[in-house]
Amino acid sequence: MEPSKEFMFKYKGFYFGVNTSAEHVASLENFEIKDSDIFIATYPKSGKNGTVSKEEINLPLFNHLIAAVPKFFFLPANTCNLIRATCPSERQEGSHLTGGAQCLPEAEIIYVTRNPKDVLVSYYHFSKFITTLEEVPDFNIFMERFLAGKVLASSWFDHVAGWYGHAEDFNILFLTYEDMKKDLRSAVLKICNFLGKKLSEEEIESVVRQATFENMKKDPRANYENLPDDIADKSKGRFLRKGTVGDWKNMMTVAQSERFDEALNEKIKTLPIKITWDMN
Ligand code: A3P
Repeated sequence: MEPSKEFMFKYKGFYFGVNTSAEHVASLENFEIKDSDIFIATYPKSGKNGTVSKEEINLPLFNHLIAAVPKFFFLPANTCNLIRATCPSERQEGSHLTGGAQCLPEAEIIYVTRNPKDVLVSYYHFSKFITTLEEVPDFNIFMERFLAGKVLASSWFDHVAGWYGHAEDFNILFLTYEDMKKDLRSAVLKICNFLGKKLSEEEIESVVRQATFENMKKDPRANYENLPDDIADKSKGRFLRKGTVGDWKNMMTVAQSERFDEALNEKIKTLPIKITWDMN
């Protein structure tokens, strides 16, 4: 069952939501990046909002840090892939990145990964809750689409491989959802260190407190509770859903888990990534 065109369109080989347009995505190719910019890049449902939320809502990890940084951006899901997709040859890709390199190495990028099985399950529930995403009631069908990259933001593997593949080209701090869950304080310190920002003990404590799932969930802005009904069907879920590691075990059958491993495990082994999550 192919994704419905009502919800997604394909541009340069990648899937985008109909709430954006090919023109808008194309305009991002010339997006002017400044040295002072900070980007948070993640594949959907990997914990972007736990790492940082938008300025106008709360800034769990960053409410103290933001004062030091003039700009925050959420890198559109496919920008890295797009850079590659728009450059027909390796040499041109290199020159494209070198062109960008005058500013990119100074811009700071935080890239967050999460166990793809938990991403899949979170994405499945999110697709029911967010009305601009196609709801796919059959989990098996959703999983096959996810594995084929036929979901918004396309292939999880390509996304992660794309960013890790550019680890040397950009100034990137790689974090995992699982590490953040295990030791939020260490993640905060890593981010501070990366951004060259010194916080007092009290400030660190306060950031850690606000960034816990339980406290974010109580904050209606962090939980996107004011999303209009035509965007979010609140009878079908909520933004901050479970916030746990390993929820896939409550959803996937043994056969589904094996099918997932078969499709992704060999590929994952090729990533230059310190895997902190257990697929089994
Ligand atoms: P679940 O659906 O498994 O609960 P994103 O922000 O990239 O869309 O990711 C959303 C996922 O991150 C959801 O996962 C959400 O609950 C979880 N999340 C968001 N903030 C979190 C936090 N502070 N601590 C733990 N998980 C968080």
